[in-house]
Amino acid sequence: MIKLIVGIQWGDEGKGRASHFESKNAKIVVRATGGNNAGHTVVANGKKYKMHLLPSSIIRKNVNCIIAPGVVIDPEVLISEIEEMEKAGITITKDRFHISERAHVILPHHKKLDGLYEKLKAKKIGTTKRGIGPCYAEKCNRTGIRMFDLCNTSTLKKKIEEDLLLANTMFKQYGEELVNPEEEYELCIKCAEKLVPYICDTGSILIQADEKNENIVVEGAQALYLDLDHGDYPYVTSSNCNASGTASGAGIGPTKVDEVIGVMKAYCSRVGEGPFTTEQDNEIGDKIRELGYEYGTTTGRPRRCGWLDLVMVKNACFVCGLTSLCVNHIDTIGKLEKIKVCIGYEYKGNNIEYVPIDREYCKPIYKEFEGWETNETMTEYEKLPENAKKYIKFIEEYTKVKVQYIGIGADEKQTIVR
Ligand code: IMP
Repeated sequence: MIKLIVGIQWGDEGKGRASHFESKNAKIVVRATGGNNAGHTVVANGKKYKMHLLPSSIIRKNVNCIIAPGVVIDPEVLISEIEEMEKAGITITKDRFHISERAHVILPHHKKLDGLYEKLKAKKIGTTKRGIGPCYAEKCNRTGIRMFDLCNTSTLKKKIEEDLLLANTMFKQYGEELVNPEEEYELCIKCAEKLVPYICDTGSILIQADEKNENIVVEGAQALYLDLDHGDYPYVTSSNCNASGTASGAGIGPTKVDEVIGVMKAYCSRVGEGPFTTEQDNEIGDKIRELGYEYGTTTGRPRRCGWLDLVMVKNACFVCGLTSLCVNHIDTIGKLEKIKVCIGYEYKGNNIEYVPIDREYCKPIYKEFEGWETNETMTEYEKLPENAKKYIKFIEEYTKVKVQYIGIGADEKQTIVR
């Protein structure tokens, strides 16, 4: 059984938590796209773990974890994450942790370029400045360095020199200090010492697992509306983090996928710039931010907050081919006395129920709901307050997709499965 878990808003929906929950019965968990722009927080057994590159299920000793071809890896960040985990008593051996030799490597010049591009842009994207965009750009330009190159150091120096030609031309043009290829080479050699044992052909591991009918969970990063093709371009990340892109990044064909779980919050949040039709840049947004602790795991930035936008969710159901929904933060939003949900847009004189390319012209049409209180005893759907059930039922009616998982607290135990 292969399950994909993808974000269907602007990220930070709680995918790590959903994936960690699903991985209980899995043999393998795969991280498929993005890089350390992502931040996953998992609370298990009262302990909080924060990850950026490692799949969140690394904390389960019986689960094998893969970083797949579609990911871009900052090797220093990955090493420090492995070391952090080891300090927390989690053993990471080459028998249970595998890095694809096809994954691309983020180098210092990518981070420097990320900063420079942002500085030069009149309309800032608000990137995480982790070098994600420039690394994917060089991948497309076919000049990138892959994890495979860390295992083949005789050709590495030449590749880095070639890769740096364009970047250094840019730096020269804009009066920035040039990046020395020797320094990037030395950095790769240093990181290779620690990472090479884990680098392999992850595709054959997945094929073998599939042949044995083992459960595989693919953990998406970012979300549909940050997707390079289907998101709010240019205010997006540089990978295809929709469901098909996630499967492709993992190295899994579409017909091999059995379930696609779309993870969303009971409201919306967004970090960085870009349109946000239901944004509440007021005391309601402030309240949601405080109640939901909406601050970035990666950058610590306060997240922009607003009401749930069901037009976006419904569109995601089709684009991602969702088989079920996971709605997190039902406890958080219920604390408000009145809750609004966007069920359509007023757009250039018409009422519409799709997401137009120029959605900055959309005005939300809302339906109002009453709040509720949840507590730890509500471990089953039937035990939820009537108002919470009405809210969830409405999401199902509107999207025609079942809400299978409901998050009513940060701990993985506070997940209702229907
Ligand atoms: P980049 O991925 O660093 O290039 O940033 C591009 C946009 O995606 C920015 O608006 C970021 O804030 C946003 N972004 C990237 N990764 C995440 C994530 O994991 N959660 C939420 N927003 C993200």
